[in-house]
Amino acid sequence: MTMKAYRGALLYFTGPGQAHYESDGLLVVGPGETGAVDAAGAESATACPRVLAVGSYGALAPRFAHVPTTHFAGRILAPGFVDMHIHYPQTDVIGAPAEDLLSWLERYTFPHEARFADPAHCAAVAEFFLEELLRHGVSTALTFATSHPASVDALFAAAQRRRMRLITGKVLQDRHSPEGVRDDTVQGLVDTEALIQRWHGVDRLGYAITPRFAPTSTPAQLRGAGELAARYPDTWVQSHVAENVNEVRWARELFPAARSYLAVYDDFGLMRERAVYAHCIHLDAADRALLRQRHTAAAVCPSSNLFLGSGFFDYAAAERAGFHYGLASDVGGGTGFSPFHTMLAAYYVAREGQTKTGLGLTPQQLWWQHTAGAAQALGLAGVVGNLQPGCEADFLVLDPAATPLLARKTAQAQSLDELLFALIVLGDDRAIEQCFVAGQAAKSSQAPASSAFT
Ligand code: GUN
Ligand code: ZN
Repeated sequence: MTMKAYRGALLYFTGPGQAHYESDGLLVVGPGETGAVDAAGAESATACPRVLAVGSYGALAPRFAHVPTTHFAGRILAPGFVDMHIHYPQTDVIGAPAEDLLSWLERYTFPHEARFADPAHCAAVAEFFLEELLRHGVSTALTFATSHPASVDALFAAAQRRRMRLITGKVLQDRHSPEGVRDDTVQGLVDTEALIQRWHGVDRLGYAITPRFAPTSTPAQLRGAGELAARYPDTWVQSHVAENVNEVRWARELFPAARSYLAVYDDFGLMRERAVYAHCIHLDAADRALLRQRHTAAAVCPSSNLFLGSGFFDYAAAERAGFHYGLASDVGGGTGFSPFHTMLAAYYVAREGQTKTGLGLTPQQLWWQHTAGAAQALGLAGVVGNLQPGCEADFLVLDPAATPLLARKTAQAQSLDELLFALIVLGDDRAIEQCFVAGQAAKSSQAPASSAFT
């Protein structure tokens, strides 16, 4: 790739919750380091393009006068969003109402996931899912697949074609799961190791060891997952914890010797760097201290928690404890792919109200949690989620005038916080004019499917 430059307003992060805005900026991208070595030890001929320089147009333009420059007048260049927890096989589960988590899993989620026994279905949903992520400006995701190895192959292959940085894994669930999604204890672990060897570190892909949650894995399966997590220390681990009070009660009954539900994962070696637990609502102070001690991250899923009535992530307690966390859609418990909607839901969830304590997150904190903060929580700081030199060239072209109301509101903004708040409250996929992945424009206009409902 030759060098390319993009002129426009710029948004990037200088520290946690600290955004920098450049009203007339220049973003210069070019070849990644030559001689880069991938996880398998092979020299990569196609290293991902990276940010070479970022700053004010006036300061940088003379140095890069020879570089072809695209001018995005009136647009904002910003890091691609990072979704820390999502389920690609639940794309069609969005909006399925249920009494609570456990009935939602049984009634809608497991039957949908059983369909991923068919590789053709996996491939079709993988394509739709990735296009939908990109349409909403999400360039990196840590996503569940299903218990079927073919569901992992399909998603990795589709992400590899798009040169995306994407992390996924085969779900391990060898008990308390219906036929069609339940796997075999040993075979599930054998399949996991084969998938790690096939995909982890290939191009921009990463593998996540994925026990669904403690109630649906036997101790033997969790032990095996922990052994794999130790044998492959730069893979990710992902699961769910403390989302719903009935789930917590069930986990405590199944693992009576553990200090807490979260401690079950620790007892099996599943808490370490690059381990990510979705929800983390019903925790105590010792659990939060354990997250910090083990350098394990929480994926905060506010739209899902509101939709399923699970509870509220305690931002104040998380800040006091000092563990890493970031934002996630949790589609299909979550209500959609839009990072704007997730940031707004996080604002509601965090907020102090007349019936609950809380804190007022700033728009810069919200945006950080869905970009550089999420990347940091995934162990990918300086790789994705920011536009600092050295970051991979995944960035968005935002249109702050994408709708009449957004145009009216952003035109009146007197500060960066006002501008970002307008986007968070009023923005959606229409504000994502383009999503660059590995330096290439990747957003296509997905034709809406026609409705069968008449
Ligand atoms: N806990 C176990 N499985 C799931 C899932 O698919 N979604 C959510 N939100 N929680 C879970
Ligand atoms: Zn989930």
